[in-house]
Amino acid sequence: MNDRLRLTVLGTGRLGITHAACMASLGFDVLGVDTDARKVGQLNAGHLPIYEPGLRDLLRAGLDSGRLTFTTSYPQAAAFGDVHFICAGTPAQPGSDHADLSQVHGCVAALAPLLDRPCLVAGKSTVPVGTARRLAAELAGACEGVELAWNPEFLREGSAIADTLAPDRIVAGVTSRRAEGILRQVYAGPIAGGTPFFATGLETAELAKVAANAFLATKISFINAMAEVCEAAGGNVRVLSEILGADPRIGSGFLRPGLGFGGGCLPKDIRAFMARAADLEAGEALGFLREVDAINLRRRARAANLASELAGGDLAGVPICVLGAAFKPGSDDVRDSPALDVAQILYGMGARVTVYDPAALANARRACPELGYAATMAKAAQDAYVVLLLTEWPEFAGLRPGDLASMVARRNIVDGRNVLDPALWRAAGWNYGALGMAMTPPPASRSAVRRSTTGRGHGGSG
Ligand code: UDX
Repeated sequence: MNDRLRLTVLGTGRLGITHAACMASLGFDVLGVDTDARKVGQLNAGHLPIYEPGLRDLLRAGLDSGRLTFTTSYPQAAAFGDVHFICAGTPAQPGSDHADLSQVHGCVAALAPLLDRPCLVAGKSTVPVGTARRLAAELAGACEGVELAWNPEFLREGSAIADTLAPDRIVAGVTSRRAEGILRQVYAGPIAGGTPFFATGLETAELAKVAANAFLATKISFINAMAEVCEAAGGNVRVLSEILGADPRIGSGFLRPGLGFGGGCLPKDIRAFMARAADLEAGEALGFLREVDAINLRRRARAANLASELAGGDLAGVPICVLGAAFKPGSDDVRDSPALDVAQILYGMGARVTVYDPAALANARRACPELGYAATMAKAAQDAYVVLLLTEWPEFAGLRPGDLASMVARRNIVDGRNVLDPALWRAAGWNYGALGMAMTPPPASRSAVRRSTTGRGHGGSG
């Protein structure tokens, strides 16, 4: 293996495109591989099929430099690569919590017979613990000097580039010093920049990813469980979260109370982790994750019920404005989006739902064609009886009561992400409900609902 490693990236989803473009930016020659010829054509033309800040420029810079290319050809990949990164998706199996590993196995099955010189196959996909050991056995039949390592990714949507180029840590699950050395060579830049590098066994590396996601999900559901208690007892979960976060042993990260977690990773990863632990007869150890999942889903039902309470208890035919469709701000991803789920629950309760999102409208429309969509926030809010803020995009978090007052039919707002100032909104005549705060004055807001029936839109106060 020569000094200037050549890398392939197998699978060009979010992870694969990001990894390929980032590695090219570090100076490596990179070949991205996907079986989808249309996507490969798009990528080679510099078109990014996803929304990720900065990634289009990085992709184009890689293509322009000649260091980055995409292909559908596995023979080309086998001939090219010193290190082959597996970045295939691992969605849930239909009707099951277990991960569907067919894409990962497909990559290895396509590559292994073509390998004719020493190389490292490094898995990055999130997989159930034990997968790497099985893949290593599959590769053992390939050419001499072919090795497997597991090098999980921890990247977040919206900051995927920074998370790849300057990660918090690099985990290398290896079975030899040689494999560790190759991964140290790949990540020489971040390591020189101070990123800690953990060389472990294969199983610990696989677990590092799912354990991190399980912990993050637990933190979010912990504060959301406190939110439930606050609602019942009259506490304020926002303040509680700040107090808890001030203890450095607890830390304030991932302690934002609200609608909870969604997206393509946390929900499916904790479920697949539980399913795998059950297979290993260690299911009891992760029993708490069931509760984490349940708390998370209860927040969605609570947000919908809060909207119903504000509307007077019956949503049949009631126009509702939903602000947010993406699972988090800075993303167009609507996979397991809490916001879109709440919109669907409201629709199921008979409401006439209109959704606005700055980036995820097209994806939301594809996923939930039954909902109404508006191209602007103002149009979505027009004549609404309740506005729900469900994804904390800056343009929503920065809303002031007067911005929507002249459009809505009733001044009712559900702050599903705890980003608005309740005092400000209440002072401007809005009935303000948030997850984790008792309604004050409780459904006295009902009287405000009645008051407001005399005319819609109270003029732009606030
Ligand atoms: C996550 C992990 O952070 C990342 O390390 C892993 O590789 C993939 O999964 P991502 O899916 O991009 O990344 O989203 P993240 O930023 O972690 O947020 C997950 C969800 O939790 C979002 O829906 C977000 O709105 C929610 N969240 C986050 C909260 O509800 N409260 C918080 O305090 C933090």
